[in-house]
Amino acid sequence: MSVVEKAIRKLQESKQSPGGTPAGPEPTAGAMPAAHPGAEPPSARGPADHAPAISLDRGTLRSAGLLPPEEDMNQLARQYREIKHPLVAPAIGRGVPRTPKGYLIMIASAMTGEGKSFTAINLALSLARDKDIRVLLVDADVAKPQLSHVLGLGDAPGLLDALREVERDVETLIHPTDVPTLSFLPAGRGSPEEATELLASGRMERLAAVLGEHDRARIVVFDSPPLLQTTESAALARVVGQVVVVVRAQSTPQPVLLDALKILEGHPSVSLVLNQSVHTVASSYYYYYGYGNERSEPSKAGGA
Ligand SMILES: Nc1ncnc2c1ncn2[C@@H]1O[C@H](COP(=O)(O)OP(=O)(O)O)[C@@H](O)[C@H]1O
Ligand SMILES: [Mg+2]
Repeated sequence: MSVVEKAIRKLQESKQSPGGTPAGPEPTAGAMPAAHPGAEPPSARGPADHAPAISLDRGTLRSAGLLPPEEDMNQLARQYREIKHPLVAPAIGRGVPRTPKGYLIMIASAMTGEGKSFTAINLALSLARDKDIRVLLVDADVAKPQLSHVLGLGDAPGLLDALREVERDVETLIHPTDVPTLSFLPAGRGSPEEATELLASGRMERLAAVLGEHDRARIVVFDSPPLLQTTESAALARVVGQVVVVVRAQSTPQPVLLDALKILEGHPSVSLVLNQSVHTVASSYYYYYGYGNERSEPSKAGGA
């Protein structure tokens, strides 16, 4: 049985018992490699000029479907605490050795509409509550840059501009937000053809490394295009240390998920988040399950 089939089986097993049980064991550290050399020492650069600060207005995010109703926020916060925990530890070396490039986390899914953008921003907000972490949320869904649009940065220079103009300091394109530990890099400007080419180019690997190495406490969360509908998503997966695949419960057909996971086969750290959003977040629950890097036990987050 392949690792993908095992992952699906585990996912299905956990799906059959949505009893809100406590989170499963932490990922073990055993097989994790030593600290990523590129992350040392912390950047000696001073604070870069940056793009104008923006507000993460909760009302705007909520109207765009990127935040749940106010009354469900506490429950969602609890769920995201469970989801982020096994991602943070190897990203910053908290209690376990750092995973190479583990601080670069891609939020992926097989198809569009499975909750990548929702997960990316809610994970970023949850990570930003951790005082030891600075979070950079990157809109890498260049074909459908929903986050950039919702945050009023649909026309702002961003990722694509930094990829095109290699001499440009990408830090100057990053927008601080009213959440002090969270900043945002919009998708930027470019034709769809150029976007695909740029994201799949070797430049993306260099840029991702630059973004991650800027600050030792930084975790970069990439919202991304769907794995099965674009080629750039697979390319992005190759440059990050951790991939989180969002699966929409009762929606993503199993063969579709398997095809998406096949694209990621061989990646050292792939996790699944089952995102069930039936009517309200109160009826949503997430299961977190990771494989790779000895993550062999399912971990369940939340439960309603
Ligand atoms: N956990 C959730 N709870 C409530 N609504 C959700 C949840 N996840 C996704 N949605 C909704 O599903 C739709 C698609 O989500 P989105 O994040 O835009 O998907 P993607 O980025 O994968 O295309 C959005 O309208 C979003 O509001
Ligand atoms: Mg999206």
